[in-house]
Amino acid sequence: MREPLRVGIAGLGTVGASVARLMARNADGLAMRAGRPMALTAVCARDRGRDRGVDLSRAAWHADPLALARDPNVDCVVELIGGEEGPARALVEAALGAGKHVVTANKALLARHGMALARLAEERGVALAFEASAAGGVPVVKALREALSGNRVARVSGILNGTCNYILTRMEAEGLSFAECLADAQRLGYAEADPTFDVEGFDTAHKLAILTSLAFGVALDPDAIYVEGISKITPLDLRMAAELGYRIKLLGVAERTPTGIEQRVHPTMVPRTSSLAQVMGVTNAVTIDADAVGELSLIGPGAGGDATASAVIADICDVAADVVRPTFGIPADRLAAPERAPMQRHEGGYYIRLSVFDRPGSAAGIATRMAQADISLESIIQHRARTADADPSGRSGAPVPVVLITYATTEAAIREALARIDADGHVAEPPQVIRIERE
Ligand code: NDP
Ligand code: HSE
Repeated sequence: MREPLRVGIAGLGTVGASVARLMARNADGLAMRAGRPMALTAVCARDRGRDRGVDLSRAAWHADPLALARDPNVDCVVELIGGEEGPARALVEAALGAGKHVVTANKALLARHGMALARLAEERGVALAFEASAAGGVPVVKALREALSGNRVARVSGILNGTCNYILTRMEAEGLSFAECLADAQRLGYAEADPTFDVEGFDTAHKLAILTSLAFGVALDPDAIYVEGISKITPLDLRMAAELGYRIKLLGVAERTPTGIEQRVHPTMVPRTSSLAQVMGVTNAVTIDADAVGELSLIGPGAGGDATASAVIADICDVAADVVRPTFGIPADRLAAPERAPMQRHEGGYYIRLSVFDRPGSAAGIATRMAQADISLESIIQHRARTADADPSGRSGAPVPVVLITYATTEAAIREALARIDADGHVAEPPQVIRIERE
């Protein structure tokens, strides 16, 4: 058998420690698959005293990630520190610059600097591998870059953030608060170091930027993505969704449209009977629509140490087997410039929850503004105020929730109608708008 691939892991947190443990546990099987053993020769983290649940005594310890990149006993640098700048970026640039292969799970870094890093890797003839960066343990990167290379992809969509799906699942099923669910997701190692990236949709957007490039053969363009997170979803929205036959999921969607590639991340109502609605907890699901294969879905754990380590190790295995591909499937300089489809042109159904002053003419005024914007309403739901002193005359003026469900319309029409409704003084607070995917 050939000499071992010498691996250095920078970052020994949730994912890094799992990678080290899995490499030790499955060493023989990995060597058989890769055609040579893998040796963990160097590691790096901040706290040397912390128990990582694995024997690291044979690996050199580096306090500085750059020292690990320069270590002559490392052929493959595994970056599991995280963050789009700082030590992670410096480490990856140094490692590629030194002609070393890099494996990373860092979608923030790739979304922001993926093009430059891909060029550097391709110049040096080394791998920049990132299976774990999108949908955790779900092998969607390989699927798009390799297994589906014979297809023209029309759409990639799905649940790409385990933390958000975990929060929405538990809020709905157990009636827990957003804060309680987020704290549990953090405890379980699902959330980003700064969970704002999860709950405000940025992490999904980072993953979507990567998948869009792989699927459509275009340069990464994270700034083209319309992004909304789940932090404003209330228990009332979850109850209303259930009453209307929907469930709320944070989706990332990239699709070819006549005006370019539409990329969007936002909470979405999906029919309760749909397959997406059955995807619960930390599970991710990605559906790819392509001309030859038709519709293909991949479902599995989207976050967590071992699930993510599974994807990282698949990349290390490729490196050990000398598999070096252009980072995003096509050489970086040949990726097309993406044409952006503006969100204003997005078409679909909408759930709109308004806090309407309960007085004569409010509902009629709102319906009129919708009609003026050429929006057709499928239903209007107004529950009576629940307060003990609710006025049975409907003239109290107190704000009450009113939910509108629209037929398919455009984002531009919705924005125009809501601006007018606000200007008319019918509503007490900004509207809640959730897009509906009916298929
Ligand atoms: P953690 O926060 O659990 O681990 C980060 C590690 O980096 C820690 O070991 C930390 O050291 C080390 N570190 C931080 N700063 C430095 C520094 N300046 N120098 C050296 N070491 C440093 O993160 P995760 O394991 O959760 O995530 C790692 C990467 O994987 C991120 O890019 C994340 O987005 C991605 N990812 C995470 C998934 C998950 O489920 N957690 C899933 C998919 C991708 P110490 O332990 O000593 O503090
Ligand atoms: N914080 C991310 C998530 C980790 O919850 O999906 C996996 O990328």
